[in-house]
Amino acid sequence: MALYLVTGGAGFIGSHLSDALLAEGHEVRVLDDFSTGKPGNIDPRCAVLRGDAADPALVRRALEGAAGCFHLAAIASVARGNEDWLGTHRANLTATITVFDAARAHRLPVVYASSAAIYGNLGEQVAREDLLPAPLTAYGADKLGCELHARVATHVHGVPTLGLRFFNVYGPRQDPHSPYSGVISIFARRVASGETVAIHGDGNQLRDFVYVADVVAHLRAAMGHLEAGGESTVLNVCTGMGISVLDLAHALADLHGRPARLVHEAPRQGDIRRSLGDPARARGVLNITAQTRLREGLERTLASLVVA
Ligand code: NAD
Ligand code: UD1
Repeated sequence: MALYLVTGGAGFIGSHLSDALLAEGHEVRVLDDFSTGKPGNIDPRCAVLRGDAADPALVRRALEGAAGCFHLAAIASVARGNEDWLGTHRANLTATITVFDAARAHRLPVVYASSAAIYGNLGEQVAREDLLPAPLTAYGADKLGCELHARVATHVHGVPTLGLRFFNVYGPRQDPHSPYSGVISIFARRVASGETVAIHGDGNQLRDFVYVADVVAHLRAAMGHLEAGGESTVLNVCTGMGISVLDLAHALADLHGRPARLVHEAPRQGDIRRSLGDPARARGVLNITAQTRLREGLERTLASLVVA
């Protein structure tokens, strides 16, 4: 059993990961500034450090005695990156370099969150890891920067790294109230409360939605891969199946047994038209695939809203 640092452990994905690590008998230390994360997401068995993941002294302290780091702290909203370019840059890239730098002393393995946003618009192509990245947003550019600095961490400083390019993650605990949250949590809450759902643009933009438990399984497998001496690399975390935003709104309304009430708004700046990933490389390297079907994941997400 080991101690792991989870940055962003008060957030949506980080809190599910922490729960899974605790269930395996590991110790978890969370570093979070609670900018979007919530204390209530954290299991009381976790040790908590409150602060900025771009603070070098704090991150060094957070890594003391740890066997490795899952670096998930970031401002996950693409729209917020458009509005606050410099502020999100500090959280999304400077913090990542800070974590790699702190991991240098003991060459600790770091599994970090990259994103499908690094691909940009691929037209009809499915996103494979060997395609040339061409991000269209500050958020995507910073996540690509994380991958480039991970190469530096590995090749210059001997830090094992694995970057996971999450596609659109959804599930319980994704904040349904923030306009900056993921589309499924926003739509699920609005449909459940009988409110209208805002579609940005025509709604034909396509996304590859992956359920949070599957993302957690990839994160754990990625750490196991590095601990076993596996190569440092980047991998997609996706299902290989897409649904349009419009069909998603209808699917959620169907699950509620009522018609969707839609309003169309202006498209979001830099919004990716089609984001669909190829899971083959992750399957080859980590021997893992996403298991949860969209309908099942949506049902679990809706059920969590009713209980909450
Ligand atoms: P989230 O907002 O729920 O979690 C992020 C956490 O990081 C929050 O608890 C927040 O308080 C914390 N945080 C933000 N800035 C910080 C800072 N400077 N110092 C310390 N803590 C800070 O978002 P999430 O959906 O759980 O995202 C987790 C990671 O996965 C992020 O790196 C995000 O970019 C990435 N990602 C998410 C998705 C998705 O669909 N949710 C897709 C691709 C990548
Ligand atoms: C999401 C993640 C981002 C991640 C990326 C990877 C969030 C908040 N963002 O970005 O961290 O790196 O996936 O693929 O989790 N939409 C509407 N109406 C709404 C809200 C959204 O039509 O009320 C549309 C958006 O314009 C977009 C789609 O739904 O076309 C998905 O939006 P969103 O959930 O914000 O995710 P991404 O921008 O894809």
